Formats: sequence, C-alpha cells, structure tokens
Amino acid sequence: MKRVGILISGGGSNMVALARDMVGDHPGRAKLVIANDPGAGGLLKANALRIPTAVVDHRDFLKDREGFEAELQVVLEDAGIEMIALAGFMRILTPGFTAKWAGRMLNIHPSLLPKYKGLHTHARALEAGDTQHGCTVHEVTADLDDGPILGQARMDVRAGDTPQSLAERLLPLEHQLYPAVLRRYLAGDRRPVMLDG
Ligand code: GRF
Repeated sequence: MKRVGILISGGGSNMVALARDMVGDHPGRAKLVIANDPGAGGLLKANALRIPTAVVDHRDFLKDREGFEAELQVVLEDAGIEMIALAGFMRILTPGFTAKWAGRMLNIHPSLLPKYKGLHTHARALEAGDTQHGCTVHEVTADLDDGPILGQARMDVRAGDTPQSLAERLLPLEHQLYPAVLRRYLAGDRRPVMLDG
C-alpha cells in the first residue's frame, strides 16, 4: 500500500476526488495534504476527510526555491510519503526536486497537452478557436507540463463558452480522470486512460 502525499494551492477538489477513491482495493492511501498557502480552502476539506495536513508557505522562503523544497522534502519524509500527486499546486518545482521524485510524482493540467502548457489554458483554447478541450495527467519532469502523458479527458467546446464555463465543465472530468490514472499508475499499469466527456 503506497503512502500518497497530495500537494495543493487552492480549493482542493481534485485532492478530494483522489482521496475518496483511495479506499478498498486501491493500491494507495492519502496520508498527507500539503499546501503552500495557509489560506488554501483544500486544507479544510482534507481535515473533514481526516487526512493529516501541513503548510509550507513559499513566501517564507522569498526567492529561495531550494529552501522551500528542502522543507517540503522534510515534511514528506517525516510522513513516509512514497508518491506525490500535484493537485492544483501552483509552484514550479526545480529540476533537483523533480529528479528526486522521478517516476513517483504526477500532475493534472487543464489542457490537452502538449497544447497550452502553463497558465490561462481555457482562454487560450478559446482564442485559438479549438473545437475540443480537456485535461491531462502526466508524470512530472524538469520541464513544466511536459512529462509522459498517462491520461486525457476530452470535451467539446460549445458556442458561447467562456474560460469560466470551460473550467466549470472540465472540473468533473478532472475528478474522473485523475483517480483513474493514479489507481492504474500505482498498480504498475502504464497504459494511458482516455475519457470522453
Ligand atoms: C484544476 O483545474 C487543475 O487542473 C488546475 O488547477 C485547478 C485546481 O482545482 N491545475 P482544485 O484546487 O483541485 O479544485
């Protein structure tokens, strides 16, 4: 049974979906939720799910990314974490940290990678006139939003869609995709999960 740490920055809806799925015959258990912001709404949701939480506030480290990550590493090791799921975690990790967790760290990104790495993915898909949009779960490597793709969920872009309406319609798909990928990944199965919304 793998001990999974979930890193968040915001509301934590993906964290909740992952944690709720890690029961029964699932090969992992959510053992820790870490936020880089003490005000992250997901911390309260983790408490309600009785998952231990911690805060490592990146602002305490100013520009010292390695210092921030060294503290993260201590918190992860103290909890015996073996696998990391980034779930709406908005800090860019250094190559040193991603190398340490190579093959043991996943991320969800709200676009059909390799399209629209980085921010504002919904607005960029609309600006480009895309007819399909979606989300991707990938292994985390040194390059942002670039690691091996483990799953994608697609949905049609509708007339009148806005970045907000796309984000709202995509989130339930994220909550299906990420748990399915994590369950398969921890079972050692690298076949990609493909969903249509
Ligand atoms: C999600 O859309 C995720 O793809 C992106 O940030 C958002 C976080 O949502 N990285 P939540 O905090 O999991 O609710």
